[in-house]
Amino acid sequence: MTTDERVEGLADLLVSTGRLTDPRWRDGLRAVPRHLFAPGRGWAVPDRPVYEGFPIDRRSDPAAWWEAVYTDTAIAIQLDDGASDPQSGTGVWTSSCSAPGIVVIFLQELRPLDHHRVLEVGTGTGWTSGLLTWRLGPGAVTSVEIDEALSAGAAGNLKNAGLSPLLVVGDGAEGYAAGAPYDRVHVTCGVERIPYAWVEQSRPGGVIVLPWSPGWGIGHLAHLTVTGDGRALGRLTGPAGFMMLRSQRRRFGGPERAAEQRGKAVRSAAHLDPRSVIAESPGAEVAIAALVPGVRSHLEAAPDGSLRVWAIEDTGDDPAWACATFEPGRVDHAVYQYGARRLWDEVEAAYLRWVAWGSPDRARFGLTVTPGNQSVWLDRPDRLVA
Ligand SMILES: C[S@@+](CC[C@H](N)C(=O)[O-])C[C@H]1O[C@@H](n2cnc3c(N)ncnc32)[C@H](O)[C@@H]1O
Repeated sequence: MTTDERVEGLADLLVSTGRLTDPRWRDGLRAVPRHLFAPGRGWAVPDRPVYEGFPIDRRSDPAAWWEAVYTDTAIAIQLDDGASDPQSGTGVWTSSCSAPGIVVIFLQELRPLDHHRVLEVGTGTGWTSGLLTWRLGPGAVTSVEIDEALSAGAAGNLKNAGLSPLLVVGDGAEGYAAGAPYDRVHVTCGVERIPYAWVEQSRPGGVIVLPWSPGWGIGHLAHLTVTGDGRALGRLTGPAGFMMLRSQRRRFGGPERAAEQRGKAVRSAAHLDPRSVIAESPGAEVAIAALVPGVRSHLEAAPDGSLRVWAIEDTGDDPAWACATFEPGRVDHAVYQYGARRLWDEVEAAYLRWVAWGSPDRARFGLTVTPGNQSVWLDRPDRLVA
């Protein structure tokens, strides 16, 4: 199969799954081919409901490598800030070539116009800054990456592709004031608290597209517009699960000391089926994230069908946690709650408030960012939920 055929195959796939809707970005996929940015070795995870990864190596198994590059597959290029071999697949993802489906969704959501100047946060492999540079021309795109080695790798990839955005090594949370004002800000790492620098460095009317990743659930694509009075506001338009901005990383997995603390946990019965609480709707995820701030979720599903839903405080030396359980064949659901907060009670209360609002879906929620604050609203910016 030729490279052109592979690119067309990927574009057809993204059209058929409803992800690629703007034909201009189909041209972009042709003009900025992904294989110039994909790592020779990495860990590939197809974007499917069940995330299952596998190692890829261009030299030892070129067929599997090309297949991963030209399907809707995310490829980890760095784990644990480089401390773990990406091919091991074990470790925290710290950089990747994002799956093409979410890449085109973000670019379509950004909707840059011909004359626009864009700030990107998270250069990674350079693929998305390359696509933006192809679209807007040299001089229109600035991309900030915190990891110097990754930025150098992206520079090499972009050179091979004949593209030259301005690459900056630095903390993207600070934006890049020297290049402001921007018409668009394209963020490719998750944030819970949106850095105000992105608002400050945008023109009024400018758009910021970012993965809003509070700890509860996987995360949401936020489309914010910058107002003339120094705010940015807009709705949550879809799912988006990205690795976090470095300064906002959180812990992974269950609570570190759960086994030793279990004896001190209070046992009770859940009022709600934990499976509904986590899977009913992304709208419920937004409500819980807003009403139970500082909590993250963690799921453990066992082959026998049992499930543990953890709610874990993300800060402090002695974080509170709760674990709600589902066991096949049982109608009652045991809950264990440890620490200064009763987190499962808080989660259930938030869920029931969401139900009382009429179970609104994700798209009815929005965010407002001001210099000192960030709030979540339902339907209208003046109807704050938290
Ligand atoms: C999902 S990857 C970006 C993918 C990239 N856009 C591409 O096309 O390959 C996220 C990137 O954000 C970077 N990152 C994390 N925190 C950052 C920060 N504070 N400032 C700039 N970049 C950051 C990571 O190092 C990582 O390379």
